[in-house]
Amino acid sequence: MEISAAIDGAMMRHALVLARRGLGRTWPNPSVGAVIWRMEGQDPVIVGRGFTQAGGRPHAETQAIAMAGEAARGASMAVTLEPCAHHGKTPPCAEAIVAAGIRRVVSAFEDPDPRVKGGGHAILRQAGIEVVNGVCEAEARAVALGFIRRIVDHRPLVTLKLAQTADGYAGVTGRQLMVSSTSSKHRVHLARAAHDAIMVGVGTVLADNPDLTCRLPGMMQFSPVRIVVDTHLDTPLESRLVETCHSVPTWIVTGPGATEEKAEAFRAQGVIVERAALGSDKRLDVVAVLHLLAERGLTRILSEGGPMLAEALVVADMVDGVTIYTSPEPLGREGIVAMRPGLKKALANKKRFAAAKPIASGRDSLIHYYRV
Ligand SMILES: NC(=O)c1ccc[n+]([C@@H]2O[C@H](COP(=O)([O-])OP(=O)(O)OC[C@H]3O[C@@H](n4cnc5c(N)ncnc54)[C@H](OP(=O)(O)O)[C@@H]3O)[C@@H](O)[C@H]2O)c1
Repeated sequence: MEISAAIDGAMMRHALVLARRGLGRTWPNPSVGAVIWRMEGQDPVIVGRGFTQAGGRPHAETQAIAMAGEAARGASMAVTLEPCAHHGKTPPCAEAIVAAGIRRVVSAFEDPDPRVKGGGHAILRQAGIEVVNGVCEAEARAVALGFIRRIVDHRPLVTLKLAQTADGYAGVTGRQLMVSSTSSKHRVHLARAAHDAIMVGVGTVLADNPDLTCRLPGMMQFSPVRIVVDTHLDTPLESRLVETCHSVPTWIVTGPGATEEKAEAFRAQGVIVERAALGSDKRLDVVAVLHLLAERGLTRILSEGGPMLAEALVVADMVDGVTIYTSPEPLGREGIVAMRPGLKKALANKKRFAAAKPIASGRDSLIHYYRV
């Protein structure tokens, strides 16, 4: 490989590491990473780095330019998504790159947002900047998949998490069942921080009264929005999700039949109540729910609901990845089956999902399935 292509790749991979840091905190914007470097002889020297900040601003490019200062003049930049071309709350990054005097831009892929779509690269080229597009494109698309789904498919990325006992149960009726090991809980909390929202069905709220926050040491502020899919507004007003909605936002998506009076009672507590259409089974139509959430700006959802919501999402083909934790302990009696037929069938279909090698998560085993 030519030395400059190898350096471009290395800088882009570094920018991708930065981009991953912002996942879960930049919605409705993508989390982007940017690295600015200068060549000293044969060696690249990094002079600026940045990634999209919480809430989507400042952008990665302006962060990196600010860090580089005068050293940006004549330097190269690797950026994990085409720099923006439109005037939003801030001027376009493409113009900031031109103004900073950067000579060469290595970009991973063209932004599918109709307001950009090649316009950022065009501004750079018109200013005489060399643009190399398509570096580490597949990895960059994977990092930005939530944003791509929102713009292209009008839904957020959905990751499904389910934990089961050795004999395949997710819970028992009438009480909370601890299925996962401490290591698995930590992994789930880390996954929460990298998503914009956690979604559950009302069945999980009624059974477990969960907090659904990121409780790893020092990471409470990375807790995402909590969403309940609740056709009739049966979520108890005394539930933890309602009681704590001032510290971590809680949204309930309900159907057209729930009374406005009930909705107002939740709003008075600080919960955001949204409405979506019902499907033919008289439950919320998960496709309509996800379209609504994308419209509200969400790009990455972790579904931690029970078996019913998991099955509905996968049957509707709305799922990008599935993580199954299996404990070594059997329940040893009848419980709530974790993998309902629709989920089981989808995961067995190699045209839909590919299974990664199982790994240990404390005493549990973990398998991740990727959407093909
Ligand atoms: N092991 C795990 O990973 C795990 C995770 C979560 C929960 N659980 C356990 O699972 C049990 C609860 O299971 P669950 O399946 O009832 O929980 P769930 O999937 O979180 O909630 C199901 C409820 O969501 C509502 N919903 C609205 N629209 C829906 C749609 N389109 N499709 C499916 N559901 C929709 C339905 O109630 P309405 O029709 O009234 O809206 C439905 O009864 C509890 O024992 C809990 O402890 C286990």
